[in-house]
Amino acid sequence: MKKIRVIVTGACGRMGLECVRAISAESDLELTGAFDVAGAGKDIGELAGIGPNGVIVSDCLASVLKSAKPDVAVDFTIAQGFGARAASILKSGTRLVSGTTGIDAATIKKLEKIAAEKKLCVLLAPNFAVGAALMTQFAQMAAERMSECEIIEMHHNRKLDAPSGTAMDTANKVAEVYAKSGVRVDPTKTIKLDGARGGSLGGVSVHSVRLPGFLASQEVIFGAPGQTLTIRHDTISRESFMPGVILAIRSASRIKKLVVGLENIL
Ligand SMILES: NC(=O)c1ccc[n+]([C@@H]2O[C@H](COP(=O)([O-])OP(=O)(O)OC[C@H]3O[C@@H](n4cnc5c(N)ncnc54)[C@H](O)[C@@H]3O)[C@@H](O)[C@H]2O)c1
Repeated sequence: MKKIRVIVTGACGRMGLECVRAISAESDLELTGAFDVAGAGKDIGELAGIGPNGVIVSDCLASVLKSAKPDVAVDFTIAQGFGARAASILKSGTRLVSGTTGIDAATIKKLEKIAAEKKLCVLLAPNFAVGAALMTQFAQMAAERMSECEIIEMHHNRKLDAPSGTAMDTANKVAEVYAKSGVRVDPTKTIKLDGARGGSLGGVSVHSVRLPGFLASQEVIFGAPGQTLTIRHDTISRESFMPGVILAIRSASRIKKLVVGLENIL
């Protein structure tokens, strides 16, 4: 069986190294390249703690695409410059699976066009944990019956963006349901501390907590007279994202456009 050739972009980051370990453990996948602005010249297997594997980190995406001949690029970098990196990946004929968060709508639109033209997969998943995808689906179900919702997301203190991509995705999906039934108006008259009511997305307030001790957690709270319903997901280790990432790599060849959310391939 021909192996799926995979490169990791942002390979030296926390998620990138986790992907290197996960990809290397699968017999149908072959890690053929590693791109990162940090760690150039180092052996990625060694950095990932799985022993040297001869895949040397490069800080030049074009040369990694050329030499590694990937079928799929797995990306966990930063939103800044993501559009240009993603466009280069697609233009080389490589499918893209990305978990990078904070990507703006204009960039997504541009990539959607390139993906459609090239008939190539772009899978953007703000959360690769299967439980988180289910949380969002359950929240959409609950929103059909309970018309008031707030989201609290809790992440580690080194996270660069707020709210989290997962919270934005959940809020958008709940807000889509509420747009049909009438958007809630927040009754708060006096805000004594800026941000006390969080940020509002289509009537759904989103609150971000950043503290050491958390990795990634989220509560979606629905309220109705005399009752509340809390849907909570906790990521305890980055391993939780890997089954979703591996599934996305294996699914990439049958997706011919841009899709957002792991639920599209579950
Ligand atoms: N979708 C998910 O399930 C999920 C889970 C965790 C984190 N994330 C997201 O993944 C991204 C990475 O998270 P992390 O915790 O690994 O961060 P990190 O800071 O540990 O790693 C990011 C890596 O990207 C590299 N990088 C930065 N700019 C780059 C560029 N221009 N070109 C190439 N490489 C570049 C950095 O050098 C670093 O090695 C973030 O956007 C985070 O929010 C998503």
